[in-house]
Amino acid sequence: MEPIARLVKVSVPNYLAGLPIPDSIGGWFRLGVKDWLALLPPTALLVGVGYMSYRAFCPHGRPSPCGRVNRTIKKDVAKVVDEIDIEDIDKKAVFCRCWRTENWPYCDGSHGCHNKEHGDNVGPLIISRS
Ligand code: FES
Repeated sequence: MEPIARLVKVSVPNYLAGLPIPDSIGGWFRLGVKDWLALLPPTALLVGVGYMSYRAFCPHGRPSPCGRVNRTIKKDVAKVVDEIDIEDIDKKAVFCRCWRTENWPYCDGSHGCHNKEHGDNVGPLIISRS
């Protein structure tokens, strides 16, 4: 435990105190190449930690599992293809485009939950005959 305590209480504060951070905005313009190089590692660390936090905690930063849109529909086939004869559509058919429906290929309103959860705006394709 002592090495960690020393790192947190002594090494890191000493390192940070030694960074060439200017006291004023104009001081940033007077920094030399060596100063900028000294600021590079902590800046990269901060950017990395920020990005990882964004990916971990922000829902928009998290990709769907394996980047997949389709999580449940016909997972046993290589490609989901559906064909519906236009003659079979009575007056109107509402097709899912969000891949969250329990009634594929028709919309069951699940897009509403998806949109609310992910801040998305997907909706169905409505085909109507006049
Ligand atoms: S359920 Fe997918 S678009 Fe409505």
